[in-house]
Amino acid sequence: MRRKLVVGNWKMNGSLDQNRLLLEALVRHLDEVKQVDIAVCLPYPYLFQAQAILAASDIAWGAQNVATHEGGAYTGEVSAAMLKEFGSTYVIVGHSERNGAYCESDADVASKFAIAKQHGITPIFCVGETLQERESGVMEYAIANQLDAILSVSGGALLDQTVIAYEPVWAIGTNKTATPEQVRAAHSFIRERIAALHPGAAESVRILYGGSVNPRNASQLLSMPDVDGGLIGRCALDADDFERICRAA
Ligand code: G3P
Repeated sequence: MRRKLVVGNWKMNGSLDQNRLLLEALVRHLDEVKQVDIAVCLPYPYLFQAQAILAASDIAWGAQNVATHEGGAYTGEVSAAMLKEFGSTYVIVGHSERNGAYCESDADVASKFAIAKQHGITPIFCVGETLQERESGVMEYAIANQLDAILSVSGGALLDQTVIAYEPVWAIGTNKTATPEQVRAAHSFIRERIAALHPGAAESVRILYGGSVNPRNASQLLSMPDVDGGLIGRCALDADDFERICRAA
C-alpha cells in the first residue's frame, strides 16, 4: 500500500521572513495530518531554515536540483552530499522548467537521479508532454522516452521508493489542469511502463500529479487510481491552500 505524498515546489520564491511565516504555519496546521506524507522543496539557501523550523515536525524538506558530480571544480553547483548534510529527504530532478531553460539532457537527469539515490535522497523525477506532443498524438511516446532515461540505467532496486511526478507541461502555471481521466490514463501508462522493465518496482513507486492543482480540484485529481499525491507549485506558497490540498489528498 503506497502512502500519499504531497510536495510543495516553491520554485524560485521566498525570503527569510516569508519562509518563516509559511513554514511555521505549515507546522501548526499540518503536523496533525498523519494520513499523508508532506514535504516542501525550497531554494538552496533556505534549506538551513527548513531544517531549523521543520526538524521537530513530520514535514520533510528537499531541494529542486542537484549536481551530477560528487564535488570539485563545478562553479555554481550543489552536490547530493551537501543536500544530505542539510537533512534533505527529497530532490526534484528533470523538472520541465530546467529541461527547457537550462537545456538539461535525459542523461543529465539520469545522473542526478542516480547520485541522489546513492546519497539516500529520494529523487522526484518529473516527466510530462508538451501541448504539441499531446495534440499530435505522441504523448505516450514522449513520456516513455523521458522515463526510459532512468529505467534503462536503474536496476529495479534503484527505483524502489522512488517518486515520479507526471507534470504535463501545458498544465504548469497555466490554470489549465489536466482532467481526472487524462491524469488517470497518464499515471497508469507510467506504472505499466515501469512494470514492463522492472516488475518488482512498479507497485512501490509513488506517482504524483503536478500542474495547476488547487484546493478545489485536489480531491478529485488526487483520488484517481494510480495517483499517489501531488507536486504543487503556486498553491504551495499559500499556507491555507497547501493545507487544504494536503487534507484533500
Ligand atoms: O512542480 C510543480 C509545478 O510545476 C506545478 O506548478 O504552479 O501549476 O502548481 P503549478
